[in-house]
Amino acid sequence: MKFEDRTRCDRTPAWAALHAHYQNSVKDFDVRDAFAQDATRFENFSQAAPHVFADLSKNRLDATTQNLLIDLAKQCGIEAHRDAMFAGSAVNNTENRAAMHWLLRRPSAGHKFFENQLVAGINTAYVAMNNIANNDATGVGKSNSDEVQQTLSSMLAFAEHIRADAQFTDIVNIGIGGSDNGPRMVTQALDAFATTGKRLHFVSNVDGAELAAVLKQLKAENTLFIVSSKSFTTLETITNAHSAKAWFAANYPKKSELSVADKGIARHFVALTSNVKAAQAFGISTTFGFWDWVGGRYSLWSAIGLPIAIAIGEQNFRDLLAGAAQMDAHFCTAPLTHNLPVRLGLLDVWYRNFHGFTSRCVAPYHSALKRLPAYLQQLDMESNGKRVDAKGEVLPFATATLVWGEPGTDGQHTFFQVLHQGSDTVPVEFVVVKRERHGLAGHQEKLLANALAQSQALMLGKTDPNGHKHFPGNRPSTTLLLDDLTPASLGALIALYEHRTFVAGSVWGINSFDQWGVELGKALATDIEKRFQTGDLSGLDASTHGLMRKLAE
Ligand code: F6P
Repeated sequence: MKFEDRTRCDRTPAWAALHAHYQNSVKDFDVRDAFAQDATRFENFSQAAPHVFADLSKNRLDATTQNLLIDLAKQCGIEAHRDAMFAGSAVNNTENRAAMHWLLRRPSAGHKFFENQLVAGINTAYVAMNNIANNDATGVGKSNSDEVQQTLSSMLAFAEHIRADAQFTDIVNIGIGGSDNGPRMVTQALDAFATTGKRLHFVSNVDGAELAAVLKQLKAENTLFIVSSKSFTTLETITNAHSAKAWFAANYPKKSELSVADKGIARHFVALTSNVKAAQAFGISTTFGFWDWVGGRYSLWSAIGLPIAIAIGEQNFRDLLAGAAQMDAHFCTAPLTHNLPVRLGLLDVWYRNFHGFTSRCVAPYHSALKRLPAYLQQLDMESNGKRVDAKGEVLPFATATLVWGEPGTDGQHTFFQVLHQGSDTVPVEFVVVKRERHGLAGHQEKLLANALAQSQALMLGKTDPNGHKHFPGNRPSTTLLLDDLTPASLGALIALYEHRTFVAGSVWGINSFDQWGVELGKALATDIEKRFQTGDLSGLDASTHGLMRKLAE
């Protein structure tokens, strides 16, 4: 059965049973009582997955809820939908495209990962995944897989070449959304693995202040510009790329011997795009491509990962892919009851639809993960921020949770007040890394102590007759624990988040791989920009009309 045609989640028996369960026994669920009644709650409500251990025990979950959520997943056909994604079906139905970001990180046959990981009990999804890679009959098969490996190898060879070239001291990635967020977040997160001493800059905003601030740090002859855009039409990126090109032409040393040896723009600009023609028309001859089945927010594994590969090198980039592939295998093979992306995706549904919680706070207790919340905002909200199902029919229930956050301990001194004593309940997700790599004594214990203390305080609360000092407690949180922040563990963590988003979207019946909601604003901005030039304000709504008049004063 096609995903679009299956029974809507709110019409399944499990949805009704979850509602009844919520009304009858969970509405007043207190996680403190649950711990008092079950000495093994931590063990029962935690889950190990590749590189990530999740403590779910401080959530408003009991065994019945867990079982009913698994029933819901089954009745919504999550496994079939997952298998369809891993079989290369057009799960992005509104654009008639597959979603095969997982193929980008599938290690080539013979990789040690396959020897170690793929043992008995592989289910249809993983078999399908291997079949795609090895068989061309599906049309998305071997040829795609070969192309992926070839593009990966040439992108990584180019990265190594740039790493070894002392002339390039500065690398500037010009891109936005998925062509910025992933590489920006990962290079920051893996800074401890960056050994070349090259400076990486990211320019995304069309606000010229951002590009100008970077340009003034650069020497043209020492800079490589990466123009990163799947479509090569995105307003911000193309505007910034043109300005960078003009700056480069104006600042490139005119001495003829340098210009000849250095080959100007051909050597200093590279494009990562599916639209090679447009990149060439712009004047860029070195391009690395990817495919329409890679969504922007799922693209860091593709050529879009070039800044990452320049920063951390080939082996580390391959480890990032391998970590993600391990999570793919877990998602495909672990039973739903012990499947971490499934459990987290279902928890999101449970909180959004049954408890009515509207947001989720992500608090990484590792400053290198500073960009994780911003990255997850695009992943989660661009994927599932839709009020219609895959058929385009309006859904009568809420979807997408708002995702926000900042690293701890900084957040403790800003918004944690509202988490502890505010009128809304916001589930918090602590991302905690056991090992530190900075070598400064006495910091890590304090950092870890604060992470644990915050989740403890949210849960336990504190009774005080003075209302100002009373903490209600019973505030849910999840802790994701990594032994170390390495390329492999980060790859696994990101893939975990991707699949969790897929699971929630899948329950809701959403196409998580399109993003029509970004189009209207883009079209109106083009119209308004023209009006700035012509001065034509006719037909505008009164507010926009008034604001344009003010701006023209
Ligand atoms: O904001 C919409 C969007 O299409 C994102 O999905 C995408 O990641 C971003 O713009 C950038 O697109 P492109 O890589 O084509 O420049």
